[in-house]
This record gives sequence, structure tokens and C-alpha cells, in this order.
Amino acid sequence: MRSAGKLTVIGTGPGNPDQMTPEAAHAIEQATDFYGYAPYLDRLELRPGQTRHASDNREELDRAGAALTRAAEGGEVCVVSGGDPGVFAMAAAICEAVDNGPDEWRAVDISVLPGITAMLAVAARVGAPLGHDFCAISLSDNLKPWELIEKRLAAAASAGFVMAFYNPISRSRPWQLGKAFDCLRAILPGETVVVFGRAAGRPDEHIEITTLADADPTSADMATCIIVGSSETRVVERLDLPPLVYTPRFAEVST
Ligand SMILES: C[S@@+](CC[C@H](N)C(=O)[O-])C[C@H]1O[C@@H](n2cnc3c(N)ncnc32)[C@H](O)[C@@H]1O
Repeated sequence: MRSAGKLTVIGTGPGNPDQMTPEAAHAIEQATDFYGYAPYLDRLELRPGQTRHASDNREELDRAGAALTRAAEGGEVCVVSGGDPGVFAMAAAICEAVDNGPDEWRAVDISVLPGITAMLAVAARVGAPLGHDFCAISLSDNLKPWELIEKRLAAAASAGFVMAFYNPISRSRPWQLGKAFDCLRAILPGETVVVFGRAAGRPDEHIEITTLADADPTSADMATCIIVGSSETRVVERLDLPPLVYTPRFAEVST
């Protein structure tokens, strides 16, 4: 039987309030209890009677359990991610908790509402680098071995996918991005287009367009999503306007 409560997983978008969906904004108005990483909860304007339950970045499964327990008790719960909640974020943690948790969590009415994910916000700032086939790879080796990340980088690069890198670097993961660029330099030409998109949509946004040969890992931080082009990705220079980066809609089998 369904529990009386409800759990909605939302994404705030990349940080610009205009990039949060009206559907997510409506879910925020309805909910009474909010679970999430504090900087994401800080993006919400809550009214009296709405309660914040902030937790640390790496406590996703505990947060999911606490949110499900509250919803199973009858709460109107909102679980908050940045960007899209299904992309390297809380929707998967909620599903994992339900999969492995007590029966009452299976009775909770769960909705996942889509949001604008970081790679789409960064891509839109420069043109259309994701205009043809692409993939998203988290460079965090907290939940998967680095060996697997290298394998996926090599497969994606060899197959001609444009790649978007999430979680490129942090204080506890300082070398992974440099290693990823080294792996790609062994497969892709040095002139491959690379876009560093930091804090897309926020006042401190910084966008840098460079090449794989010149890509410097110190240009990235935890708020950066990096797009590595395919051999088809091009930069269109323009007079007095920023360049356009795009990947054409057509592609050939490479020889
Ligand atoms: C744990 S993941 C969460 C992704 C999020 N669910 C999404 O859909 O964008 C965090 C990573 O997302 C990327 N990111 C989040 N917001 C960003 C923004 N405004 N600009 C660029 N990258 C961002 C960064 O790569 C960051 O390390």
C-alpha cells in the first residue's frame, strides 16, 4: 500500500534561477521538508514552516534514507540536487536506497523532475558542441576505479564521441584530470577543441575555449564541466563576438 507521504527529487539547474524549471519551483512550494547538500539548499527561498535538512556532499545514501523515512511517515519531502537530479546526483541514490532498504520505502510515492544539467548549460554558452553524438563521464574515482574511467575515456574517444566531464578535480582528487588529458592526447589530435565551463549561469561564470594540446588541468575546479570535442567539432571565429563552438549534425566513418 502507498504511504501517505510523497518524495519529489528536483534539480535546481546549474545555478541561474531562470534555469530552474517551473515544475521544480512548484514542487518546492508544495513540500515541507528539504534534504540536500547545503549549497544547493541555499539556492531555495523557503518560507516559515518549510524545514531544511542539510548534509555533507558525500553523505548521499544517508540523506536518501533520512528523506525516505520522513516521506514514509507522511512528510511532503523534496530532495534537492544541482543541475538535473538524475545526472550524477540524488535520484540514483534514492533508487539505490529503495532497492536495498526496508519495505516501507517501496510504498513512498516518488517523482523525479528533470532539470538543466551542467553540460547543457556549458554547451549553450559556446554554441552547440553537443550537436552530434556525445557522452557524459564523471572523473570522480570515489565510486568506481580509475582503471574503469581510463577504459571509458579511451572507448569514447576512439568511437568519436564528444565527451562532457563532470567532477573533474577536487582537493582529494588533484591528479585525475591531468591523467585524463594525457590518456586522450594518446588517441586524439592536439587541435581537438576543449571547453572549460566554470559556474555556468552564475555571476562567477568563466568559459575558456582551448585545445587538447594546451588544456591545463589547473583551469578547472569542482564547479567546472569540461567538454572535449570530437574530430568534427569546430570553432567559428567571429569579428568582435565570441567564437562559436559546434559539432556538425553529420559525421563520416573515420578511416
Ligand atoms: C555531483 S555533480 C552534479 C551534477 C548535476 N546533477 C548536474 O546535472 O549538473 C557536480 C559536477 O557538476 C558540474 N557542475 C555543476 N554545476 C555546474 C555549473 N554551473 N557549471 C559548470 N559545471 C557544473 C561540475 O563538473 C561539478 O563537479
